[in-house]
Amino acid sequence: MSADWPFGNPVLTASGCGGTGRDLAAYGDLSELGGFVTRSVTLQPRPGGAEPRIVESPSGLVNAIGLQNPGVTAFVREELPPLVELGATVVVSIAGHSLGEYAELSRTLGRTDGVAALEVNLSVPDPVGSGLFDAREPFQAASVVGSCRRDLRAGVLLLVKLRSDVVRVVETAKAAVEAGADAVVVGNALPAALPDGRPGGLSGPAIRPQALRCVAEVARALPDTAVIGCGGIMDADDARAHLDAGARAVQVGTALFHDPTSAFRIARELAPEPDPLPGEDDA
Ligand SMILES: Cc1cc2nc3c(=O)[nH]c(=O)nc-3n(C[C@H](O)[C@H](O)[C@H](O)COP(=O)(O)O)c2cc1C
Repeated sequence: MSADWPFGNPVLTASGCGGTGRDLAAYGDLSELGGFVTRSVTLQPRPGGAEPRIVESPSGLVNAIGLQNPGVTAFVREELPPLVELGATVVVSIAGHSLGEYAELSRTLGRTDGVAALEVNLSVPDPVGSGLFDAREPFQAASVVGSCRRDLRAGVLLLVKLRSDVVRVVETAKAAVEAGADAVVVGNALPAALPDGRPGGLSGPAIRPQALRCVAEVARALPDTAVIGCGGIMDADDARAHLDAGARAVQVGTALFHDPTSAFRIARELAPEPDPLPGEDDA
C-alpha cells in the first residue's frame, strides 16, 4: 500500500448519506467514526435531479439525487474545513465526466490539507443519464484509477468504489488495484427506477445479500487488498457479516436516513471490549 491505513476503526459513513457532516455531528462525534465519506464532488457544481429525489421501496430507498454538490472549489472552501474541525477522518468522494476531470480532482484534493483519502466513484447507478464517465469495463476503471494515482500526493489513500456487479466486479477490482488503487469499496446503489420511471439507485437491506456476495468474491480474489463493504448495513450484525465475508471496514449509508445515530452505534458495538482492570475479573 502506498499510504498508511488512516481509519481508526472499521465503521465509515457511505458517500452522500451523511450530508455535509455538520448535521450528522448533532447525533454523534465524527471523530469516533473510522471515517466520514463526503458526497461525490465534481469539478463544476451540479444542481442535482428533479424532485422527488428519494423514494422508499420495500426494504430500501431509491434515490435520484443526481450527485448534487457545490463543485470542488466551494467544497474545499466551505465544506471541508468544518469536517476537519469536527475531527473527522475525511474521505472525499470524486466523480468526473472524463479522465482529465478525475486527474484534476485528484491533483487538487490530494494537495489539500485535511484529506485522508480519495474515493473514486466509478459506480454511479446512471452514468449515461448523469453524463459522468461510464467506467463499466475493467479497462475504463483502470484508466480512471491510473489518472488519479499519477498526481496524488503520497500519504493520501486511494479508494476505488465499484459497482457491485456480480459478473464483472472481481475483474474490475483487479484492474483497479493493478492501476494503483490502495483499497476497493464494494459497492454502490444498484441501478433501479423511481415509480415515475426515472433512473435511480436502489440501496438499503434489499441489496445487502448481493453486496455481500461481491465483497466475498473480491476479498477472496485479492487477499492482499483491503476491501470496504457497503450495502444494506443497518446494524452491527450486518457489519459483522461484511467483515466476516472478508471486508476490512464497512460503510453505512441508507441506515443513516432511518436513524442518524446508526453509524456511531455500530462503531461502538464493534469496538473491542476493554481489558479488565487488574483484580476486576477476580470477583
Ligand atoms: C441519498 C443517497 C445519496 C447517495 N449519494 C452518493 C454519492 O454522492 N456518491 C456515491 O458514491 N454514492 C452515493 N450513494 C450510495 C451510497 O454511498 C452507498 O454506496 C449505497 O447507498 C449502498 O449502501 P447502503 O445500502 O448502506 O445505503 C448515495 C446513496 C443514497 C441513498
